[in-house]
Order: sequence, then structure tokens, then C-alpha cells
Amino acid sequence: MCGIVGAVAQRDITPVLVEGLKRLEYRGYDSCGVALYADGELRRTRSTQRVAELGEQIAQDKLSGFTGIAHTRWATHGAPATHNAHPHFSALANEKPRIALVHNGIIENYEELRTELEGVGFVFESQTDTEVIAHLVNHLYSGDLFEAVQQTVRRLLGAYAIAVFCRDEPHRVVGARQGSPLVVGVGNNENFLASDALALAGTTDKIIYLEDGDVVDLQLSRVWIVDSEGKSVERDTHTVSIASGSAELGPYRHYMQKEIFEQPRAVGDTLQDIESITPELFGDGAYKVFKAIDSVLILACGTSYYAGLTAKYWIESIAKIPVAVEIASEYRYRDSVPNPKSLVVTISQSGETADTLAALKHARSLGMSHTLTVCNVATSAMVRECELSYITRAGVEIGVASTKAFTTQLTALFLLTLALAQTRDLLTEAEEAEHMKALRHLPAAIGAVLALEPQIMAWADRFASKENALFLGRGMHYPIAMEGALKLKEISYIHAEAYPAGELKHGPLALVTASMPVVTIAPRDALLEKLKSNMQEVRARGGELYVFADGDSKISSAEGMHVIRLPEHYGKLSPILHTIPLQLLAYHTACARGTDVDKPRNLAKSVTVE
Ligand code: F6R
Repeated sequence: MCGIVGAVAQRDITPVLVEGLKRLEYRGYDSCGVALYADGELRRTRSTQRVAELGEQIAQDKLSGFTGIAHTRWATHGAPATHNAHPHFSALANEKPRIALVHNGIIENYEELRTELEGVGFVFESQTDTEVIAHLVNHLYSGDLFEAVQQTVRRLLGAYAIAVFCRDEPHRVVGARQGSPLVVGVGNNENFLASDALALAGTTDKIIYLEDGDVVDLQLSRVWIVDSEGKSVERDTHTVSIASGSAELGPYRHYMQKEIFEQPRAVGDTLQDIESITPELFGDGAYKVFKAIDSVLILACGTSYYAGLTAKYWIESIAKIPVAVEIASEYRYRDSVPNPKSLVVTISQSGETADTLAALKHARSLGMSHTLTVCNVATSAMVRECELSYITRAGVEIGVASTKAFTTQLTALFLLTLALAQTRDLLTEAEEAEHMKALRHLPAAIGAVLALEPQIMAWADRFASKENALFLGRGMHYPIAMEGALKLKEISYIHAEAYPAGELKHGPLALVTASMPVVTIAPRDALLEKLKSNMQEVRARGGELYVFADGDSKISSAEGMHVIRLPEHYGKLSPILHTIPLQLLAYHTACARGTDVDKPRNLAKSVTVE
């Protein structure tokens, strides 16, 4: 949520800031802006359009400079409007702006601070919580920006990553983080700040990941970090290899399409070259932890939560361990009965989702010390906070709707299931070999499902004129139905609900008419006959069925029943394959409706606020 870029250099830094914002646009796109130091003053350009338009406006405004900050916004306080767009300036009465600041996060005590700052004469131009930080830095400034920012953050409650610079110290940018991500990019006589190393790909690959409470002083040839107590600290510099090409679209129309088609590679990479199952895949000491636990508690949000729901079916069926799956934002605020022998598993693409992180900390505060994360970002807070981890290798996911992150999470969770089963002596060598064979073949099997795209496009054209859709699944395909409904609603804005097919007659059947498509996930498994009866219930009410069946199941197209067959039934891993057509259906329906697929309205990737 919200992307930050900052730079201090000896060259015009505008192109680096704009390029960085383009790469961070997935974090929010309500508005954007850049502020630079030029000719002794602070100048800025802000826009409620996209970063590409901001770039054109910057060129028209002839904005350039060697020190600057930039921001792409996902609005929390104050509507998406130019006056609420960052960077925010602070000026003393009758003076030109002295401080420029960008922020990602939420300041919880901003009202109290605003009253205080208005009391000493600061005039507010926006409804944002961010503007209080700019004025507070200005208020506390007495010639040393680093000092003023350290004093400022001591007064802030909530989550923030900030980048700030001052007209009076033009070769300096100061950053701070608490609960929201911020990295330093180390250059040659120039230094950078960003919400994500991806923003700096092609500029520098030397990255320092700041910790919560850190304040960093960036000058041309100096990076100085102090921790929350004001003590100087050294943080490791990592060489990260994010090819600038990972943000390129290539032959695809949208990042979402590119990422759907990357899944054979992403799943293959996530499996690495694993020869055999061992708990140590999840970190040193995993065997001892897996032996010690008697249940699993999965915490996640959105699509990651649906991955957790699918894993519950696998773990309970194969490893025979009871699993509870909780929506993180609910779990953290409800009274629950903690079990210290539970393994707490968080699932997160970004590793920085505020609700999931808070739920993890809540679980730990209740005495559950065994924690494991399945996460796509090795350097994220989630990985740092957990005892054990499995890093999915989806690669950077830019489309706001999660696709390859989901299927790689499922892949990792299946490995976890096998490792848990093994520690309980519930996995024979023959079973392990069979599961490994199926896993190794998975990338090719996904490739075969992707080849169904033309058939799915034909369906999407029909869905495009609908306003509602129902998704049905049973057993471990019910969470996949939920994921299919979420994908459709978030990018095509068609209202979609998912139900376990057996629940239909208990209420939702009342909604079924010829104008509501009913998408049914119908793999050839033990529940297929039951599911067929549910499908008849829909047909008898005139409902139109769109069925994803397996190649070897006896379901055929008929009046009111359209069938697309996946090439093969894939046993326990079938949920992964059945996800793919649902992603393609949502994607092509959204394209047919002309929505902004990669940046759906009101949403952003990496939900770092509550
Ligand atoms: C939906 C989607 C979201 C995320 C959710 C959790 O397509 O992307 O529902 O799954 O915000 O995000 P992570 O996995 O980063 O914790």
C-alpha cells in the first residue's frame, strides 16, 4: 500500500524516481507525485492519474533535480485528489516550503497531532494523516534533518515508512520505518530509498533492508542508520538480483496474463530440485518442531487464506493432524483458546500484510511459539518473524490479483503436508515417490491446462454481460471455487459467490435463474456423483452451468450445460490445476468488460494497513 522512492545523487534523478514509481504502482494508484530540490527551492508535480501521465506532466513542468522523493498512493485518509497526493510540503508562515515528505502507513494519533500543530500556526492543505508528519518534522527542525526525524518518529503512533528532505540540506534524504517496508539502495556516490527493491532494479542491486524502528540518513557517500533507541547500527547489505526485465510485460497484454502463464516456471522453481521430502526443507530444527506439535493453526488473508483452506483438506487427510484456518483480521481480535502445541502457519505472498503479521504476533503472545511461514519474499517481515519458513519462488507478482503466488503457495503447502505426514510415519517410501512424481510433472500439467485459453475466452464473452455468478465446488475444491469467485469479482467487478455445492439447497438455490452463470468445479473424484446431483438441482431451475471437468469424467455438454475438460485428473493436487481455468475466466471476462485488470479499482497489492 503506497510506494515510496527517494534519491540523493549528483545527476538529474527524475527518471529514476519515475521509473521506480512505475514499478511500485502495484502498491497503490489513486494518485502519485514527485518532489525535487531545484534552484534553492522545493518543487513538486502531483497527479490523480497514473505514473505514466505524471511522467508527461513532469516533462511539461520541466522538473529536474538531484535530490528528491516520489510516491504512489492508496488512499486511507482523504479522497484521491491532488491536494491529498504526496509529497506533502511544510512551510513556516509566509515562507517557501522547507520540508517535503512521503509516507506509507497510517498514523493513529494524527488528529491529536494536527490540533497541536494547528495550535502553533501550521496550516493544513490536505485531509491526510501524512501532512502532520511533514509539519511535525518542520516544527522540530533546528538545522539537522536526521535529528528532527528521530524526534518526530518518537511522537508517532501507528505504521509508517517515510522519506523526507529539507530545502536547507539539499544533499540529504532521511527515511524511517515502523511496520511498513523500506529499503536502502546503495549506489556509487548516490543513495536511494524505496518500498521495495524492485523499484531500484537497474539502478542498484545493493540493498539494505531496514528494521522496524530504524531511521536512516542518506547522503551522497554515506548511509547512517540508527535504531529505535537512537544507537548506530550496521545492517547487512544484500546483493539482490531482480532483473529489471521482471517488470517488463513482454508479449502479454497485462501482468496478470503474464503471471498466469508463468505458473509452470513458478511452480517448478518453488519445487526447486527437491529429491525427497524432509522437514528440513522448512528450516533447521523443523523435525523437532513437527514432532512436538499436535495441531496446525493457519493465519492468512484473501487468496492466501484460500490456500490455507485447501491445505486443511490435505493435512487432515494425509498427515492426520487437526487444522484450523483463520482469517487473520478476525483471529487477532477474537477470544480464542490457544494451544501451545499448535504450529502457527502464516501464508503471505508479500510477507508484509499487516493483519497477518499482527495475527502472528497475537498467536505468539498467547503462548504459541512454533511458527512457520509460506511466503514469496525471503527478506520480508513475515520470514524474519517466523521460526521456520518455506520461500515460494513465484518471482515478483505485479498484477494486483494474486495468481502465481496462489499456486506456488499450494505447492509449498503440499510439501508441508508430506513433511508433517513423514514425521508421523504416515508416508511410506512408495507414497512419497508417487507424490514426488506428481509434483515434478505439475509444471507440464499446468502448461496443458493453460492451452485451454481459447475455449475459456469464448465463455468469458458470455460472462461479460452478467452481473452475478455462482461458483460451486466440493471438498478440497470448495476453496478453489472461493478463489475463482474472488478473482472474478476483484478484476471484472461482477458479483460472485462461492458455495460448497451441497449447501445450494439450503438457500442460494433461490438465486438461480437463467441469467446467473453457475461455474462448477467437477474433478473426477469421490464426490463427483454427489456434485452431479447438485448440478441437476441447478438445471431443474433453469440455471446455466459452466463446468470444469476432467478429461476422463463422464460429463458432457448439453442444453444449459457447457463443459470444458482439463486434460487429466490430478488426484490430491487437482486443486492446483483447477485454479488455472478460473484465473483465465476472470482475466478474459475482465478484458471483455474493459476494466483495468492489473490495477482494479479501490485495491492495491501488499495490504500494509489494518
Ligand atoms: C487477491 C489478493 C489478496 C491477497 C491478500 C493477502 O487476489 O491478492 O486477497 O491474497 O491481500 O496478501 P498476502 O498474500 O500478500 O498476505
